[in-house]
This record gives sequence, C-alpha cells and structure tokens, in this order.
Amino acid sequence: MKTLVLSALATAISLLTVAANAQTPPATPASVDPSALVDQFEATSGKFEGYRRSGAKGICAAGEFIGTKEARALSRASAFSGKPVPVVVRFSVGGANPKAVDNTKTQRNLALQFNLPKGEQWQMGNISAPVFGASSPQQLLGLLVSRQPDPTTKQADPEKIKAFNEANPEVLLQGKHFASQPVPASFASVNYWGVHGFGFVNAKGAKQFGKWIFEPVAGLQGLTDEEAKAKGTSFLFEDLRQRVKEGAVAFNFNLELAQPGDKIDSATVPLPEGRKKVTLGTLKVTSVSEDGGGPCLTTTYIPTILPKGVEASADPMLAARAAPYAVSLGRRLTEGAKQQ
Ligand code: HEM
Repeated sequence: MKTLVLSALATAISLLTVAANAQTPPATPASVDPSALVDQFEATSGKFEGYRRSGAKGICAAGEFIGTKEARALSRASAFSGKPVPVVVRFSVGGANPKAVDNTKTQRNLALQFNLPKGEQWQMGNISAPVFGASSPQQLLGLLVSRQPDPTTKQADPEKIKAFNEANPEVLLQGKHFASQPVPASFASVNYWGVHGFGFVNAKGAKQFGKWIFEPVAGLQGLTDEEAKAKGTSFLFEDLRQRVKEGAVAFNFNLELAQPGDKIDSATVPLPEGRKKVTLGTLKVTSVSEDGGGPCLTTTYIPTILPKGVEASADPMLAARAAPYAVSLGRRLTEGAKQQ
C-alpha cells in the first residue's frame, strides 16, 4: 500500500511539473488550495473511491487526428502537420457519481490527449456546453459549498443556493444551456466546447486567440423525452461501441476566431455569435474499450499541457485546473482506479 501511495504521489508531482513546464499561463493562478477544492467536490457530490472526482463515469477510446492547411496557417503546432496523429480519448458523463444516468439533460465530456512527434503531448477536457459553471476557482468553491447537503436532511439548503445564485448569476448559464437542449442520443452526436480561450501562434509568430468546439461530422442528434425514457439509464457506452464499429464517429475540430476587444479570458463568456470559424482538422474515433480499462483510466487530462504553437489565455479557471486534477488522480490511483 505504501508503495502505491508513493507512486501515486510521484505521478501527481510529475504531472504538476509537466503542466508547469508545458506552458506557463500569463495569469497568476488564483489561490484556492487544490486539495480543498477536491475535498469540497467530495463533500457536495459524494466520495466514490477509485473514481475521478468529476466525470467519474467514463470509457476509454482511441482515435486519429488529421490537421488542415488552414490550421497550419494559424499555428505551428505539430498536431496540424497533416499527418495522422494518435489520440487517447475519454468520453464521460458529468459529475462525481459513477452511476450517473445517461438519459437526462446533463453534461457529457470529451477528453483528448494528442500524442505528438518527439514525445510532445496536447491534453484537453471539453464539455457539452459553451460555458463552464463558474468563472473563477473561488466562485467554483463557493458554488459547491452552497450546494453541500445538510448531514441530517441529506438535502442542500434552497435558501443558500438562492443567495449564492443571486450574487453570482453567471453560475446559472450552463444549466440554462442544458435545459435548452435535448438529451444527447450518443456521445458521438453532441458538440463539445473547450470553453477557455487559447492563442494560436504560427511559424511567423503571429498570434490569433480563439475558442474551440468539437462538432460531430454526422451532425447533432438528440432524443425526445419519450425516447430518452425508453433508452433507460445506461446506453451511451454500447451506443458508442456500435457507432465506432460502423466507422461513424468523427468530430471536426473547429476554432472560432476572436476579434480585437472580445473577452477571451472567461469560461462563462462565450465569443459573440457569428465569429469566423476555421476547421483545424478532423478527429476520427477508431476503437472503444470493451470494459472499464484502457489507457485513459490511470491518466488525467490537464488543459495547460499544450504543444508549441498553442498558448493558454489568462483565464483563471484554465490555470487553476492542473493542481486539483493531479490531486484527484493521486487519490483515485491510491484507492484503485475505476471508471465504470
Ligand atoms: C478550478 C476549476 C476546476 C476544478 C477544481 C475541476 C476539477 C476536476 C476534477 C477533480 C476532475 C477529475 C480529474 C481526474 O481525476 O483525472 C475533473 C475532470 C474534468 N473536468 Fe474539471 N475542474 C475545473 C474546471 C473545469 C473546466 C473549466 C472545465 C471545462 C472545460 C472542466 C472539464 C472537465 C472535464 C471534461 C473532466 C473529465 C476529464 C476526463 O475525462 O478525464 N473542468 N475536473
């Protein structure tokens, strides 16, 4: 057990080092203790040993990405060379509960690790909404505290929730998006947003900021309320295996280009509508794990692990993700990693 704990800690520390070396975001990371954040995830959403403290119910897949010449004009990242790049993929359902149901209007996630030439990596965790539920780590902590169930009633206090929402109206934007959309028919049929701004730097050193979306090549597909009910609570993994077998799972990696004056440093403010969109490439999912195993199980996806040619924006949420992800990874590896 001691060896396991030590190796989990070593992994967490080395991940933090990788994250720090990969890109240093220009913003000073806001000072919320990463362990306190993960403790609060557990206090509010429950502690499920071995599982990711967010995006717990998931499945590993593998894919291949091919970049476009439009992407090469924007960024010198080797991901866009035009040659196929292997990608370690993880699809998941939002939240800390590994038994989260598949047939409600909640978050789906698409996490990716591009394995680039010369050992370079690009990691990202994308969500099925154009905005996140908080704009700073302090606000996320406050949001989670306001939703913590009372130990006796096992219910959150509606007065506390109301007061927090009124003082922090942007935390409601994500829920409004989910409420406005149908239940996704598949992991393969919903959009996934990066939510943060990133700078794309080309060979001449020119930098273009933008926000990205992975959009299904086969189009969006939602379920009516009756269809969702009939599907039951656990259909997404089997659906994905079937669609991948048919060769039908692919996403366009699209970048919305920011214009001067656009806000690009907030995860709760999307770019204005109608911004020019450039297709950076296509991700094809080529295989899916038959069970809860696979290479995504014992790793974590840190969105500040970026390739040369892509840079972090000053969004405080982006800078704040690496440390709690490493804490969560350390805890679940120590407990025995699981995801289904
Ligand atoms: C300070 C802010 C945040 C905290 C504390 C936080 C916390 C966490 C934790 C603890 C995990 C599990 C990590 C693991 O065990 O591997 C996780 C996963 C995830 N988070 Fe966050 N998160 C934050 C912000 C965000 C934002 C802004 C997004 C929006 C894109 C996001 C999207 C995701 C996704 C997609 C996953 C699942 C990744 C996977 O499949 O491995 N998170 N988050």
